[in-house]
Amino acid sequence: MRAFGRSIRPEWLLEEGMTFLNHGSFGATPRRVLAAQDRWRLAMERQPVRFFIDELGPAIREAAHALARTMGARGEDLAFVENATGGCNAVLRSIRFEPGDEIVGTGHIYPAVDATIQYVCDCTGAVPVMVEVPFPASDPDEVTRRFLAALTDRTRLVVLSHITSATALVLPIEPITAACRERGIGVLIDGAHAPGMVPLDLPALGADWYTGNAHKWLNAAKGCAFLWTNPDSRFDRVSLHPAVISLSYPAGFPDEFDWVGTRDPSAWLSVTEALAFLDEWGMERVRRHNHELVLAGGALLADGWGVEPAAPPAMTGSILALPCPVEVEPTKEACDALRLRWWREHRVEAMAVAFAGRAWVRISAQIYNELADYQRLLEITR
Ligand SMILES: Cc1ncc(COP(=O)(O)O)c(C=O)c1O
Repeated sequence: MRAFGRSIRPEWLLEEGMTFLNHGSFGATPRRVLAAQDRWRLAMERQPVRFFIDELGPAIREAAHALARTMGARGEDLAFVENATGGCNAVLRSIRFEPGDEIVGTGHIYPAVDATIQYVCDCTGAVPVMVEVPFPASDPDEVTRRFLAALTDRTRLVVLSHITSATALVLPIEPITAACRERGIGVLIDGAHAPGMVPLDLPALGADWYTGNAHKWLNAAKGCAFLWTNPDSRFDRVSLHPAVISLSYPAGFPDEFDWVGTRDPSAWLSVTEALAFLDEWGMERVRRHNHELVLAGGALLADGWGVEPAAPPAMTGSILALPCPVEVEPTKEACDALRLRWWREHRVEAMAVAFAGRAWVRISAQIYNELADYQRLLEITR
């Protein structure tokens, strides 16, 4: 079996000579997955009518089945969406909230999802309730306790990030989901980072809806994401609509999602090649390696910077936040400027982010990374 590390980076298009420590933000797609995507584009352009009318529907269902199987789920319970933002929009905008209904989230929610909650509340009179999740984090049970304490008779929906974006925490979604189900409260999980980073068994988890990106840690092409609905949910799937209403309305899920107007579906269809790519390396081996590497890289940086990582190993996947060692204002603009400086001056790409009144650095580990990459970040921040 081939070793991981810098020597396999040519499997991706990633530029020579840079240090790339941010797989997390947008993923990176291997050449062979892009080649598969190109083959789908060629099939589409050689005979567009045959492709869209006769071939596309079955091809989408076949890809949905392949992706669902990796998460213990059935193809008929999964639809493709462009991104996790779209998956969250579909669910949040399909529920008929009443004025005073409560939607529970946290300050760690991805800003686009937070904005969608706000939009839905503005439209319906529902009320956002934000749970304070301690950061830096040390105890998943404390997170669970805080969520459960926020539930009331008016709670209609809990929105959970499986892995938080800027702060890189794996949240204890299992006990929170179980408690919500017992009380008849809907659960939407935003698993943007989770597929390919942590093991997933969607039916066992038991949330009502789970959305995730394949274009991050599954190495699929950009615009490949999914929304899974629980067949045992008390929320009916005929009332679940994509953010764009199109020809299949009012059939609901998944039919309406399979056709949202003419678009390039090649990212969705190439997911099978991304899964084959990961299978060759060994999905579990990849996950374990990335987890161990981000912990080792994080320890190296924490030691050099004299800080502590912001999450314990039990709440870490393959991204990790650490206090920023460079004095910088805790604002988005200042953090963006720092990131850009690292890139322009040193060809190092690592995320700097402001959260809770201070600046953090979020590192990623993917199989093309090695410890020397984190050493390089340390060198340029000394
Ligand atoms: C938790 C979470 N949700 C949503 C997103 C947005 O992903 P996308 O732009 O693919 O919708 C991200 C991106 O990093 C994320 O971390």
